[in-house]
Amino acid sequence: MKLVILGPPGAGKGTQATKLSRELSLPRVSTGDMLRHEVAAGTDLGKRAEEYMKVGVLVPDELIVEMIGERLSREDVRRGFILDGFPRNLEQAEALRRMSDIDAVIHLDVSEEEVVERFSGRRECSKCQAAYHVRNSPPQVKGRCDRCGGNIRQRVDDREDVVRQRFRTYREKTEPLVEHYRGSKHLVEIDGSGSIEEVRQAIRAALTSKELL
Ligand code: AP5
Repeated sequence: MKLVILGPPGAGKGTQATKLSRELSLPRVSTGDMLRHEVAAGTDLGKRAEEYMKVGVLVPDELIVEMIGERLSREDVRRGFILDGFPRNLEQAEALRRMSDIDAVIHLDVSEEEVVERFSGRRECSKCQAAYHVRNSPPQVKGRCDRCGGNIRQRVDDREDVVRQRFRTYREKTEPLVEHYRGSKHLVEIDGSGSIEEVRQAIRAALTSKELL
């Protein structure tokens, strides 16, 4: 199965893609995680990408398309994949069309205010990127990752001003993709404002009704 998860920052793309990836034994391919990995490793790509990421705008298409093209040419995605954060504009959608067919595009929708609230508590491990939330899923020892003992921090782009810019970028560049995919039979619209479990079940029900599960 080849899935795309689309939605504003904080819609729960990573959360739901991670769950689906475990349940379906399919790799989750997150362009955001791939870019953060490049930034942490200090590569040329990471240095160029960081300038855009820290202010909440899109990294140029040529860098993204090359990175994702290499990733989708690997053996482990032959059976399928879950794309989280790609495509993010019409040009990237066209690049994806040339690279692979897809079975469904899941659009998770949530409001800007809800997103700002979610990000205010989000934290991650600076070493292994494990996800935490100060209220919903805090680490056992404050400031220390349960998995690897690394330091827990807030992502620089989770500050409220950057989150609001990321949301503007989404409205302007990525939201037109919803209409683009609505024209095909691939679009699945999910209200992302319920609990994590409610959203998970809604996605499963939609995939089942499309006879993909
Ligand atoms: P990326 O990492 O993709 O960030 P994003 O899409 O802006 O947002 P997130 O991934 O942080 O949110 P999410 O929807 O995955 O939500 P999550 O599950 O984490 O991209 C970062 C940057 O990289 C971009 O700004 C851009 O610069 C660049 N980039 C990446 N891809 C690119 C591309 N293709 N082209 C160009 N540039 C690109 O959840 C968020 C929080 O909410 C968590 O704390 C979670 O626990 C909580 N939560 C989740 N679901 C629920 C729920 N139902 N109820 C309550 N809380 C919830």
